[in-house]
Amino acid sequence: MNSPDLSATGHEALQAALRAGERAPSVCNSRPWIISDERDRLAVIADPDSRLDVADPQSRELVLSCGAALYNIRAALRAEGVIPEVAILPDPDRPGRLAEVAAGRAAEPDDDTRAHAAAIARRHTHRGLFTTDVDDVALVRDLIAAAATEGAALLPLTDEPLVRSLAGLVAAAEHLHRHERTRSDELARWVRPSGSPSPEGVHAEDFPADPDGALFAGRDYGQKRIRGLLDAPGAVTGTVALLTTAEDTRNAWLAAGQALERILLAATAEGVSAAFHTQPLEEPLLRSFIAERLCEDAHPQMILRLGRPTPHGARPADSPTPR
Ligand SMILES: Cc1cc2nc3c(=O)[nH]c(=O)nc-3n(C[C@H](O)[C@H](O)[C@H](O)COP(=O)(O)O)c2cc1C
Repeated sequence: MNSPDLSATGHEALQAALRAGERAPSVCNSRPWIISDERDRLAVIADPDSRLDVADPQSRELVLSCGAALYNIRAALRAEGVIPEVAILPDPDRPGRLAEVAAGRAAEPDDDTRAHAAAIARRHTHRGLFTTDVDDVALVRDLIAAAATEGAALLPLTDEPLVRSLAGLVAAAEHLHRHERTRSDELARWVRPSGSPSPEGVHAEDFPADPDGALFAGRDYGQKRIRGLLDAPGAVTGTVALLTTAEDTRNAWLAAGQALERILLAATAEGVSAAFHTQPLEEPLLRSFIAERLCEDAHPQMILRLGRPTPHGARPADSPTPR
């Protein structure tokens, strides 16, 4: 990992990678990472102050979010022509230090590598219905392969009764959360009104006023204390998929986060967006039920719907979440 005579190119590449890391998806846009520039490397450090203590007491979603940031760093470095050298959980005495990434040898990026990294700025979370599901079998295969490369598994649910069962569990968890005051207060703290310049939190423009207008219930972000403004017409649920890992450790959560972002960038590059429904995975008993019934006892890390967004529901490329 030591590269004391880091070239100017290597340093610029690390700076670009740092900016890419900051654009990762994160639970409630809490951006629970500190990406520290340590001259010859970047460190991805978990920020415990940004944890959702009620929804995520184990920091599973926090570490997943950091894994997504780590993947962006890796993808951006490759696009800058630098092979990333990654050390996962490099210091057992500092478990919050999740990863270090140093600039390794030079390697000319190919078009696919560049296109993959270019998707970082275009990727956005979708909420509401889609125009179509993932209507391309080859892309579904690519997304499954993307997850496997990162040590996770993507399981598309093709059986309609199973999709409906999962939607029922999402609705049940969402119902519980709306009636649990500490939970809705916590969510509401991460919601920002329209026009807020805050780089963190979910902005009113990014979620619909009616989170129940679809088979898969959306979060209502704290009982509508701030009303969602997203206009997201569409008629299709999308392709429903579970992201799983064999273990349920910090290491596995980091792998899941990297797999998630690899999937999202590959999808974005093909014009496909993703919606997330984490609500039942925040309820330990529902999570173990999903593991047993839908994941062959692997550990579910994320529930996704993938599809092509409607022209109106899609956020224009030139107005990203402020950050
Ligand atoms: C671990 C994790 C869990 C998430 N859970 C949800 C969710 O349950 N519902 C939702 O609408 N978005 C969810 N998101 C998406 C975030 O809210 C989103 O990434 C964040 O607001 C930033 O917006 P962006 O992805 O458009 O950049 C989740 C993201 C991550 C990484």
